[in-house]
Amino acid sequence: MLVLNEKDMMLAADLSEIMDAIEKAHIIFREDKCYLPDRYLVCDNNKIMMYMPCYANGVIGTKMLAEFPENPKKGLPYLSGLMILNNYETGATEAVMKGETLTALRTGAAGGVAIRHFAHENSHSVGLVGCGVQGLYQLIYACEVRDIKSIYLFDAYAKNLEPFIDKLKKAISTKEIQIHICEDAAELLSHSEIVITATQAREPLFVNDAKLLEGKCFVAIGSWQPHMREMPDAIWSLVDNVYTELPFACEESGDLSQPLEKGLLTMDRVKFMGDFLKDKSNGNIPKLGSTRYYKSVGMGIFDLMAAQVIFNKSKEKKIGTEIVW
Ligand SMILES: NC(=O)c1ccc[n+]([C@@H]2O[C@H](COP(=O)([O-])OP(=O)(O)OC[C@H]3O[C@@H](n4cnc5c(N)ncnc54)[C@H](O)[C@@H]3O)[C@@H](O)[C@H]2O)c1
Repeated sequence: MLVLNEKDMMLAADLSEIMDAIEKAHIIFREDKCYLPDRYLVCDNNKIMMYMPCYANGVIGTKMLAEFPENPKKGLPYLSGLMILNNYETGATEAVMKGETLTALRTGAAGGVAIRHFAHENSHSVGLVGCGVQGLYQLIYACEVRDIKSIYLFDAYAKNLEPFIDKLKKAISTKEIQIHICEDAAELLSHSEIVITATQAREPLFVNDAKLLEGKCFVAIGSWQPHMREMPDAIWSLVDNVYTELPFACEESGDLSQPLEKGLLTMDRVKFMGDFLKDKSNGNIPKLGSTRYYKSVGMGIFDLMAAQVIFNKSKEKKIGTEIVW
């Protein structure tokens, strides 16, 4: 059994390989070529354990993630966990890898895929609201897929963004990019062509004014429960459609369930990324308006496909620790 820690995983596969795996995951899901039950939550008050099993593409995997909201106050990560890969023929455990690293890599890649297809080609600025673990990886992928020259940051609670900026600079060290800290989300919005939100917010992060949102590419990844919101209702007067991963997102995320309940959004405007990618690869490029919106809640097949490419590349490059038990 191969054990992969964070360092191993970062060395194994490059960003574009993980984005390609996420594109494949979107398509497999929409072609119904996987078994992907809704994620199973075990909760004790606000402490959540998530279990995300999936079968697809000749591999079986389960991610187990702990989401403990009090952790950041204790200086501990909000998310932690484990990914297990099993052999499709025998069920034998083939690999164990760090769940929080996989989550950040695959969620960053999902945002990267959205920017690849939805952000205007000549976008040079990206804003991030929520400078935590997911936010860091969202920016790393954004810089991979567009020629970013300016990054704008805003976080309502982080008192000191220097450690975040240090990590970001290390990760994008080969690029000449200006990094700016904003006073509030409105300042960030006014400067950014691509806007990423990666928070645990319960109220929209931006003022409900369509003029301020117009023409931008939004990637909202934070809201994954009905009481969580990042995007204001004004977005619905600007976009023809919202793109997401799976129908369950409409129940899970307040960014979708609340406007659906209010009638601001109707199901015919909820589109799936896998269908978009299939249409595009068949030469039917779906028409996009000037404002674009990708709402992510994540799905177990992202973990499976990202873990598979990391595992295969690790074996090829002889990375990781083999354990016999
Ligand atoms: N879509 C997906 O696939 C996916 C995957 C993993 C995590 N998530 C979600 O993304 C969110 C962020 O996760 P993380 O691991 O980066 O957490 P984190 O705690 O590392 O980072 C979140 C950051 O957002 C900031 N923040 C919180 N509320 C804010 C607000 N109202 N305005 C501005 N900043 C705010 C916090 O201060 C923190 O710095 C969580 O809700 C998590 O569940 C989504």
